[in-house]
Amino acid sequence: MSTIVLIGASRGIGLELARQYAAAGDRVIATARDDAGAERLQQAGVHQILRVDVAKPASVSGLAWQLDGEAVDVAVYVAGVGHRADATSPPTQNDFDHVMHTNVLGAMQVIPQVAPLVEAGRNGQGGVFGFVSSGLGNITQAADSDWWLYRVSKAALNMAVASARHSYPRAAMVCLDPGWVRTDMGGPSAPLSAEDSAAALRRNLTQITLSSSGQFVHRDGVAYDTW
Ligand SMILES: NC(=O)c1ccc[n+]([C@@H]2O[C@H](COP(=O)([O-])OP(=O)(O)OC[C@H]3O[C@@H](n4cnc5c(N)ncnc54)[C@H](OP(=O)(O)O)[C@@H]3O)[C@@H](O)[C@H]2O)c1
Repeated sequence: MSTIVLIGASRGIGLELARQYAAAGDRVIATARDDAGAERLQQAGVHQILRVDVAKPASVSGLAWQLDGEAVDVAVYVAGVGHRADATSPPTQNDFDHVMHTNVLGAMQVIPQVAPLVEAGRNGQGGVFGFVSSGLGNITQAADSDWWLYRVSKAALNMAVASARHSYPRAAMVCLDPGWVRTDMGGPSAPLSAEDSAAALRRNLTQITLSSSGQFVHRDGVAYDTW
């Protein structure tokens, strides 16, 4: 039985990861922001539900205390918000803050609290810390400016992880591309179900070792060769 921590798991890919890990018999600790999200996590079989709003540093600051010295085998930062507008208009200050605080600041607040617990995972060999990023954050493969602000946030998240892993050498820290997935964010036209994306991510996370730390990987485990 592994100990799994999922941050931002009340809907979509995160909720599906919670459901699958719990069904596989793992001990799942997951976060939600409100009662409805906590209720969904309870239905999914999650063992411990924490209340965390990643966009609010005061809310994140209690995370290490709530996790109380757990050795974490797999942690996944799933929380994220989208923004579709392209580069023909500037983002408003509010939109910028909302997207960047959730997708980047939240991860940067969470890392120092959770990464040491991941280093203690897998019986002291070091666990895996995944961050759900997006192919839209790949700078060299940017084909248009759709989702401009979102792209910027995921590219920044990728750098946050690629650099932070040097401070936590016993945790395998990777960015994950879940594919285009049918969730509230991905919309109904997306080709992948949340079930299939989460199942692929779980398989991939099992195979990740320290030698992969700092990589940006597709859901099936194949690493991007550009960022
Ligand atoms: N769907 C896709 O095609 C796709 C593709 C590439 C990457 N991704 C990434 O995959 C991740 C999950 O997305 P999804 O498709 O599952 O979207 P989703 O269904 O909209 O779920 C987003 C999740 O993030 C949580 N969240 C948002 N803001 C938060 C905050 N301030 N604090 C804590 N949790 C917060 C939401 O919680 P609430 O219920 O409280 O709002 C929800 O659980 C995101 O990082 C997204 O960028 C998705």
